[in-house]
Amino acid sequence: MSRILVNGGHRLSGCVKIHGAKNAVLPILAATVMAEGVHTIHNCPKLSDVSVTCEILEKLGAHITRDGDTLVVDTTGEMESFIPESLMRKLRSSVIFLGAVLTRKKEAKISAPGGCELGPRPIDLHIKALRELGADIKEEHGYLICRADNLYGKDIHLDIPSVGATENIMLAACNADGVTTIKNAACEPEIEDLANFLNSMGACVSGAGTSTVTIVGKQELKASEHKVMPDRIVATTYLCAAAATGGEIDVLDVCPEHLSAVLAVLSDCGCRIIKGKDRVMLKAPQILKSPAAIKTMPYPGFPTDAQSLFLAMLTKSDGTTMITETIFESRYKAAGELLRMGAKISINGRVALVKGVNKLSGACVSAQDLRGGAALVIAALAADGKTVINSPEFIYRGYENLEENLQRLGADIVYEG
Ligand code: EPZ
Repeated sequence: MSRILVNGGHRLSGCVKIHGAKNAVLPILAATVMAEGVHTIHNCPKLSDVSVTCEILEKLGAHITRDGDTLVVDTTGEMESFIPESLMRKLRSSVIFLGAVLTRKKEAKISAPGGCELGPRPIDLHIKALRELGADIKEEHGYLICRADNLYGKDIHLDIPSVGATENIMLAACNADGVTTIKNAACEPEIEDLANFLNSMGACVSGAGTSTVTIVGKQELKASEHKVMPDRIVATTYLCAAAATGGEIDVLDVCPEHLSAVLAVLSDCGCRIIKGKDRVMLKAPQILKSPAAIKTMPYPGFPTDAQSLFLAMLTKSDGTTMITETIFESRYKAAGELLRMGAKISINGRVALVKGVNKLSGACVSAQDLRGGAALVIAALAADGKTVINSPEFIYRGYENLEENLQRLGADIVYEG
């Protein structure tokens, strides 16, 4: 059985280069289906979620080659429109293939997506919006049978600024007659990166990154080349790891602006932060100050994907922090594991109260989702003694070379499997 072993208590220091963003590359790879030809995608991290997305692309008929962190996706020729449940269930962003395949094939057959279990994750907003554009969507035996012979541009108001729904509408609207305007759209930087890729293929998307996105449909699309943006959540993970060990770190190849919300809280914790053009330097105090409260919000608010990272980091701090998770219903699975290491955390629905302690001790813990798994690594680095982290496969969904990078920063961490 694979596991990660950490001997904690080492102060991290040094620099780390950040890889491409999982939550940008997955919808971008799905979008390659929309235009026939050879696409070249640079800064593609080697993650298990990327491998599954490539499996789906190959199932649809694409040919893929990898050269370092560059993926070449050839979508020339006939493509399929059916994605088996076994693949759909492996990750959440498989649902983004719906908009892409409908654009290329005018039909699609998919099942509900999988992904980290963070509470209910319905796709009702995706289906509602695609139906508003004119798609015919039937649910049969757990599958969605979709037809989009003619889609028509429309004003679409999203009840929730859903990242996935915004992405799916952007893709499908590229094939609609006329103009589609998404109101209350998600503003995450990954949406902007997807829009940049779509526009490089010849689409006409404007306003991405704001709450109003406009798509002029029926543009001729052609294969393209794109460099994926850096992963702001991976960058946050290394910053929290350095802060949790009283260390100092230089995080390279990042977009500091994307990190504003997390850097503000790290500064409240007493960390000294210096921002460069594409780097962030952090120097941590010996003991972290506890910010009074953290509340997750859609971008540019505090990211829900950083919540468990800060939960773990603040288990060793000088006071109490109240964390409120507003995006997902049950995203505190790591808390139970952190208690095994001597943390003081109480959970009441979507609110966690973290009472800082002076000392954490190594223990045997298990990852149960991607960011919760990374949180356990942060706590293990800050703890005295040995920690065993089981089910590390959750972590490799979103982190490339995590152990090697942390070893270079002075951590005593190994993968065993
Ligand atoms: C994306 O998930 C990210 N995943 C998530 O990152 C991230 O946590 C989330 O956005 C929020 O920032 C990818 O990009 C692959 P949503 P997504 O649709 O698109 C509700 C990670 O750790 N909702 O913005 O699934 C939903 O239940 C992952 O990297 C509906 O009710 O998130 C949630 O409460 C985890 N109906 C809220 O909206 C819908 O049709 C936000 O979900 C769609 C969403």
